[in-house]
Amino acid sequence: MTHPIWEPAPGAPHAVAAAAGHADAPSDAELFATADRVLVGTYARPDIVLSHGDGVWLWDTAGRKYLDFGSGIAVMALGHSDPEWAAAVADQAARLTHVSNLYHTRWQIELATRLVAHSFADRVFFNNSGAEATETAIKFARRYARRAAGAGDDDPSFAKTGLVAFGHGFHGRTIGAVSITAKPAYRLPFGPLLPGVAFAPYNDLAAAEALVGPDTCAVVVEPIQGEGGIRAADPAFLHGLRALCDRHGALLVFDEVQCGLGRTGTLWAHEAFGVTPDIMTVAKPLAGGLPIGATLVAERVAGAIGVGEHGSTFAAGPLVARAACVVFDRIRQPAFLAHVRDTGKHLRDRIAALASPRVVDVRGSGLFVGVELDRPVKPVIDAARLQGVLFIAAGTHVIRLCPPLIVGRADVDLAVDTLGACIAAAA
Ligand SMILES: Cc1ncc(COP(=O)(O)O)c(C=O)c1O
Repeated sequence: MTHPIWEPAPGAPHAVAAAAGHADAPSDAELFATADRVLVGTYARPDIVLSHGDGVWLWDTAGRKYLDFGSGIAVMALGHSDPEWAAAVADQAARLTHVSNLYHTRWQIELATRLVAHSFADRVFFNNSGAEATETAIKFARRYARRAAGAGDDDPSFAKTGLVAFGHGFHGRTIGAVSITAKPAYRLPFGPLLPGVAFAPYNDLAAAEALVGPDTCAVVVEPIQGEGGIRAADPAFLHGLRALCDRHGALLVFDEVQCGLGRTGTLWAHEAFGVTPDIMTVAKPLAGGLPIGATLVAERVAGAIGVGEHGSTFAAGPLVARAACVVFDRIRQPAFLAHVRDTGKHLRDRIAALASPRVVDVRGSGLFVGVELDRPVKPVIDAARLQGVLFIAAGTHVIRLCPPLIVGRADVDLAVDTLGACIAAAA
């Protein structure tokens, strides 16, 4: 869908904004100064203000156009302003946006039905974000362990509360989620964190074996790590974790918040490994840019959770859930997933063809690709932005390529050409 009234007239971007009813919009300089004064300083943002998008393209208030190769951190799978999604959201906004989870609404049930029909799961609990989906997984694992053991809720001797997670893993920013997130900078300033958490190096089954035991209630792992630098699990590692969980009566939790929902070219990333979890968290792309999370569970886990034991005011209200149905119905189509695989292969082939000595490794699958450099990537990302392509990092040395899943080959060629030039020019 194009937005003619928003298309910047050459040399007169602000006149276009005025025509669209934004005549009173503050200037970028005013916005930056105000942001410095009123926002908590958690983000280091570049000096651009994004105003609208269409497919794989974004525009800023100065009228500059960008190819979006970050998708709002692996969220905008259908691209920006998808017409079907936008029409469903507009229609639903005019009917019913929110009633709370005190009442049934059609679209939440429709969405859960779809998720259950197309996954290992028997039931779904909805959240508002990935971090919340993690919190739900932790709470459900603990509740399950207690109920399975027949322990009283106030039994102080109950010890099967331990969690095992992995180096370079990332599960969100809430206290429970940072407790199982490895990176010290995300954890240490916020202690005391959840007790009973142990970390093994990713893909080190022997180390995991030493940590998982009778007091473990859950093992939480990303089948393909995102923030940690687009690192895939070895199939034998995930199979080994499954066996360890089964041996010790622990639940296996797959965090597919970033790698799930078509990103790797299959609906769920774990399909490629042939291992089934007991709980899976998903979020980012599910509602096409509206906030949502979902914790998918096997029946035995759901059976341990009673009325009133968990909840959310907003989660998967009618507006968000209807938007998510549009996204899910598109992503799960075999042709859509084949496009992700084909375009992803083209992307990796094109990067390999750069043959840059500064590229240390290219890894990933589908449209979830990490390009590791021999130097910090920030200058490369800054240079690419100035040339009209938005990339994001995963750590200091990895460029994370996660464009909208609708991206075409010509877009990939433009992104890789720009990336290659910026890598070559990097100091
Ligand atoms: C694997 C994974 N889990 C959880 C989260 C947290 O999601 P959110 O930022 O929606 O809370 C993220 C976010 O990047 C993630 O990549």
